[in-house]
Amino acid sequence: MSRVAVVSGGSRGIGAAISKALKAAGYTVAATYAGNDAVAAAFKDATGIAVYKWDVSSFEACSEGLRQVEADLGPVEILVNNAGITKDAALHKMKPEQWYDVINTNLNSLFNMTRPVIEGMRNRGFGRIINISSINGQKGQFGQTNYAAAKSGDIGFSKALAQENANKGITVNVVCPGYIATEMVLAVPPEIIAKNVLPHIPVGRLGEPDEVARCVVFLASDDAGFITGSTLSANGGQHMY
Ligand code: CAA
Repeated sequence: MSRVAVVSGGSRGIGAAISKALKAAGYTVAATYAGNDAVAAAFKDATGIAVYKWDVSSFEACSEGLRQVEADLGPVEILVNNAGITKDAALHKMKPEQWYDVINTNLNSLFNMTRPVIEGMRNRGFGRIINISSINGQKGQFGQTNYAAAKSGDIGFSKALAQENANKGITVNVVCPGYIATEMVLAVPPEIIAKNVLPHIPVGRLGEPDEVARCVVFLASDDAGFITGSTLSANGGQHMY
């Protein structure tokens, strides 16, 4: 039987590319989504990938949702924490909900999603946890104190968890995408992309979701068993860390 992989935020953007790439690599995939029913239904129809709706910022919702996935598909052996949002503003203009929404969805979600499955992975002696951080968690970004704090926190979380589970066959790694051509990045005003982003990408273009997905497929594989606590950057050379 093929291994079960859960991809949070797995029906759109980078997450959709990850879900499809994992399916193509032979995994049984469950893609979670937060709210866009129409897109999730179309994704399911187009790919045959199971979709589940819950809010990754809620521990109860994650526990319940993951229980359902395991009842439907089997034990979760690959967890890709990909779901994320932006609510950009300079800190001096940021509202409390912009801070808390981003921290809850992009950082607290890692606890919420990982805690319910980690004991099973430990008991079975195998697991792959791949957390999608960001170049902006590595270098900071004007207008993203919330997002940079969360994404940086994702890296610390991963390094600590990697140490705790290394002797149980579980690897925990981070992928840090740079600016990838998704709805999230295309929501940034085009003049800011043209003026502040593209000139800083040596490769000279935005990345493609599939270029991130291939990193995840590798880290999920048996071949990557000696890689844990690492951070893999896919950013076109924008930040070398
Ligand atoms: N560096 C330095 N100064 C900057 C700046 C930057 N990157 N961006 C804006 N400023 C300056 C402006 O030049 C301006 O200065 P003056 O007042 O002297 O003219 C001042 O800050 C205010 O700029 P804005 O009028 O743009 O301010 P705003 O409050 O309307 O908007 C903002 C601020 C929302 C942060 C906007 O600049 C923005 O959207 N920036 C893009 C942030 C970004 O890159 N987000 C990434 C989203 S994609 C993502 O997060 C995915 C991923 O993982 C990579």
